[in-house]
Amino acid sequence: MTDPQPNSSGDGSQRKPEPARDLVSLLSQKVVGQSAATKAIVPYIHMYQSGLAPEGRPAGVFLLLGPTGTGKTRTVEAIAELLHGSEKKIVKIDCGEFQMEHEMAKLMGAPPGYLGHRETVPLLTQQRLAEATSEQSDLALVLFDEIEKAAPSMTSLLLGILDKGIFRLGDNSTVDFEKTLVFFTSNLGAREMLREINPFIGFQSATRRPRAELQTKIEAKALGAVRKRFSPEFVNRIDAVVTYQPLDAESIETILDHDIKALQQHVNSRLGDNCFTIEVLPEARNFLLARGVSEEYGARELKRVIHRQLTQPLATMVTRREINSNALVQVSLGDNDDKLSIRQVGTASPAAPRPSILIVDDNHDLLMFLATELREAGWEMLIAESAGQARQLFQTQRPGAVLLDYILGDDDGLKLGLEFQAQAPATKIIIMTGGGLSDGELLLCAERNFPILFKPFLAHDILNFIQGSYRRTFAAGAGSISTAESRIRADSVQERG
Ligand SMILES: Nc1ncnc2c1ncn2[C@@H]1O[C@H](COP(=O)(O)OP(=O)(O)O)[C@@H](O)[C@H]1O
Ligand SMILES: [Mg+2]
Repeated sequence: MTDPQPNSSGDGSQRKPEPARDLVSLLSQKVVGQSAATKAIVPYIHMYQSGLAPEGRPAGVFLLLGPTGTGKTRTVEAIAELLHGSEKKIVKIDCGEFQMEHEMAKLMGAPPGYLGHRETVPLLTQQRLAEATSEQSDLALVLFDEIEKAAPSMTSLLLGILDKGIFRLGDNSTVDFEKTLVFFTSNLGAREMLREINPFIGFQSATRRPRAELQTKIEAKALGAVRKRFSPEFVNRIDAVVTYQPLDAESIETILDHDIKALQQHVNSRLGDNCFTIEVLPEARNFLLARGVSEEYGARELKRVIHRQLTQPLATMVTRREINSNALVQVSLGDNDDKLSIRQVGTASPAAPRPSILIVDDNHDLLMFLATELREAGWEMLIAESAGQARQLFQTQRPGAVLLDYILGDDDGLKLGLEFQAQAPATKIIIMTGGGLSDGELLLCAERNFPILFKPFLAHDILNFIQGSYRRTFAAGAGSISTAESRIRADSVQERG
């Protein structure tokens, strides 16, 4: 591992020693309620990024177990988003396509001499690994999804990868897996797990067992099933076996929040000036949850239910011009309780002008995450990992808002903010920090009207905050401030003076 930080800006700025916590918190925002998984996986990413991962094997090998629809596959997609800026940057092998022994040839390509061997392009090639990396990181994520569906020989074929970081192709060439994280997911033991969760299927179980007890039982069932199905050689080469919990009520609510937020962002970015604000009332939320979440399929159906019950009807209303731009659209329960009712109830605050936003942070993971989320929400984003880059972008692009990390390697984010404000007083300067501002600095921020966002915060919080501050700046007196926004104002933003 010669190049642990391929993304470093090369200006010699020191990275501050806190990305560990950030990657954990960023990942657990995307994969809800599965902290055991996050905590097990993230250290291997850091080991790789620091250049300390062992040589001659993958940087990490994980077996993700647990009931369907609890976030196993989502975990790998979320890591891809954080490392590479896209959930698609994964080498994904659907093991269901390898149920027959002869299908293994698709993985490694047929040996020379076999008819048509030139036409079979192996799935696991060095090039495919390279394609799953990005400018920001050369660590490729390889996902063997639902490994229990593959023919038994698959795991023995893969032993070389787990053992030596090498995969031999049909033509005898080798693929190097040193710069990879390898994930296996499986719902092995799921039926036994479900029986633990709900022993009397068909009956409403009267008493719920304590969660910790349930978790231990589920883990034991999962591991038992794994040991029965896979060879000890395979199981012993796995760095971490993680069992996913059935989603609890709070996690399910959070996942619904994410999905509604994603729909809103989609509306904003697709409809631009014609966008509208969606408000889903509690009874409508319960309707979506009742149809989208089950013990058997977890949250797997939720997106589909939202699509059918919310996105499609909204799209119909838009094409029929039944929704005005900037409308407030309320979603409630229909008269017969079997459908949602979607009505335009008023006008949301006028659309804000959208200046570009510059984010300056030397924590690369956080930077990429924020930039992706804000871009998805339709903002034009500029990013800089050092004060030098930031100055250059500021001069050439004149962003309307600058989000500055307080500690920027050797530089000082607050000083930089003052510098920018002196050059362009109308610029909205926001300071991000994990704490550590002195009283004097806090006072200075208050005097200069620099709001402070305390870490950890959600990208959503920033978004609400920036939207809010523009609404306040450019459309004084407009509309009411959303609850999320007022929460941020109360919790994480100190606006004095
Ligand atoms: N813990 C979770 N956090 C966030 N979303 C989740 C979670 N669990 C399930 N989901 C939602 O359900 C969908 C299916 O989850 P997935 O990870 O594919 O399930 P599985 O555990 O069967 O691999 C995801 O795309 C996501 O929308
Ligand atoms: Mg899955």
